[in-house]
Amino acid sequence: MENNSIIVSINGVSVSNDDLLDRGLAYGHGLFETMCLHEGLIPLLDRHLERLVNDASKLGIDLDLAMVDATISNIKQSLVQQHITSGVIKLIVTAGSGAAGYKTPAIVLPRVIALHFNLNGNHPAQQGINLRQCHYRLPLNPRLAGIKHLNRLDQVLARSEWADDTYADGLMFDQNDCLVETTCANIFLYSTSLGWITPSLQSAGVSGVMRGLLLDEIFPSLAIPVTITEIRADLISQCEALFVCNSVRGITPVIGLLEDNNLKPLAIGSRTKMVQLVLADNYPCFK
Ligand SMILES: Cc1ncc(COP(=O)(O)O)c(C=O)c1O
Repeated sequence: MENNSIIVSINGVSVSNDDLLDRGLAYGHGLFETMCLHEGLIPLLDRHLERLVNDASKLGIDLDLAMVDATISNIKQSLVQQHITSGVIKLIVTAGSGAAGYKTPAIVLPRVIALHFNLNGNHPAQQGINLRQCHYRLPLNPRLAGIKHLNRLDQVLARSEWADDTYADGLMFDQNDCLVETTCANIFLYSTSLGWITPSLQSAGVSGVMRGLLLDEIFPSLAIPVTITEIRADLISQCEALFVCNSVRGITPVIGLLEDNNLKPLAIGSRTKMVQLVLADNYPCFK
């Protein structure tokens, strides 16, 4: 820390704790991973750690994997003691505490936080979900695109557009009206003319661990090509299958899409089911 004379008050109560000067809290200077815990293991841990270390360096955080491993082992031990073997482990890495001001401290001592929460049991992975379209537009920012950083105000504002549980999630577009992802997942679409496609994440969006797994392992194992491309709204209307994915829920088919105030129904076709099946065969946590 460059300045240790900072006085802190929270909700009117004086506190003394350097942790409150965390740059993740102050500026969103950090990253997070939400990882599926299944039978006491984190099946996609290697992919999560690879993304975390790569993206940390892009934010000027030199991350010591030993510290991350120690934090994960520690939370796993606590979970074992409480006989908890499933749910989600969220890992947060921040640029640690700093003095007032944006300038990154000369020595960044990253803070690694792990927390566990249970998955709400009634996610309709099999039945599918309805999606709406968010009005909020994602900014174009090639420098931050792909990184799962802590600044999630875009998603918070987009998610505040509806309260109706009919829609589990919303499509998010960038400022050129190109599809990027949903508020908390990546997206794959199937059209007769183009086959499977997924949005390019060159200028906006999170390069999801599950998206990476589907592109590197699952689709290739089925010998099905996927094109990464620019996707405009008119293309979405022509799609006959659509699913969203993230590393907590795996693949969730979309069964309805709100377009011009009409909920357009979509069938969960055999194409989506096949990809879901192969994912579940290889990674039973996504059954
Ligand atoms: C905005 C956003 N995009 C995509 C994803 C999917 O990422 P992953 O597959 O790593 O869970 C998430 C997951 O939290 C997300 O919040």
